[in-house]
Amino acid sequence: MSETNTVNHPKVALVTGANKGIGYEIAAGLGALGWSVGIGARNEERREAAVDKLRAAGADAFGVPLDVTDDASVTAAARLIEERAGRLDALVNNAGITGGGPQEPTTVDVNRVRAAVETNVIGVIRVTNALLPLLRRSPAPRIVNVSSSVGSLTRQSTPGAETGPIAVAYAPSKTFLNAVTVQYARELADTNILINAVCPGYTATDLNGFRGVRTPRQGAAIAIRLATVSADGPTGRFFDDEGEVPW
Ligand SMILES: NC(=O)c1ccc[n+]([C@@H]2O[C@H](COP(=O)([O-])OP(=O)(O)OC[C@H]3O[C@@H](n4cnc5c(N)ncnc54)[C@H](OP(=O)(O)O)[C@@H]3O)[C@@H](O)[C@H]2O)c1
Repeated sequence: MSETNTVNHPKVALVTGANKGIGYEIAAGLGALGWSVGIGARNEERREAAVDKLRAAGADAFGVPLDVTDDASVTAAARLIEERAGRLDALVNNAGITGGGPQEPTTVDVNRVRAAVETNVIGVIRVTNALLPLLRRSPAPRIVNVSSSVGSLTRQSTPGAETGPIAVAYAPSKTFLNAVTVQYARELADTNILINAVCPGYTATDLNGFRGVRTPRQGAAIAIRLATVSADGPTGRFFDDEGEVPW
């Protein structure tokens, strides 16, 4: 299923929100496959610490200053990758926030909803569009949007299904991201770009106060699989480690 790297032309990836959690492990996994990996992160100290740790483990990692909510930052990130690599083989849109709590719909501070959508949806569109010219230069471009099964409307409306807490900012932002993924897949259907959404599963990270039951490395596996999927792989679909997730 997965495409191997070539020694002379390492594949190039950008992982957003890669300084910690699932994003860090996605970068580590791609690095272990021989990819050159851009560590997209907004905080310089945390970004450089992640780059140093990945390099110490043998990965070809490089820092990419990146705030997905900021046009100028995203434009500069695209320029940095163009100057360094000239193309991009995989973009993993991993950066995400919950929007904070509480998120009961009847009492929510609407700024929580706005913040979640700005990062988890608009940020993905902003980054994807800035990087598309570089992805188009790749022989096998892949885009992976790190979503969540809590955004699955099918699961939300299935009695007894595990759907997470009531959260009117976070869960619908992932539903929105899933819908956005489908729209990109439709527009890009006649290209060699494959774009999919993935769910890492309930993973122990800062996002949930480390209450998740999976390790970040386990959470990263599905994104790595779709970032490295071969040309006959899927597009416009939604996966976790168990297989396809219903929209
Ligand atoms: N953990 C889970 O159980 C779980 C389940 C399903 C889906 N997910 C999804 O997995 C992805 C990764 O989450 P995680 O669990 O690894 O959480 P995490 O440890 O909190 O990591 C989130 C990452 O996103 C970055 N980020 C947030 N806003 C950003 C912005 N405006 N610009 C650039 N980077 C930004 C954070 O950077 P800073 O360090 O600067 O804040 C951090 O690197 C998210 O999309 C999340 O929704 C997680």
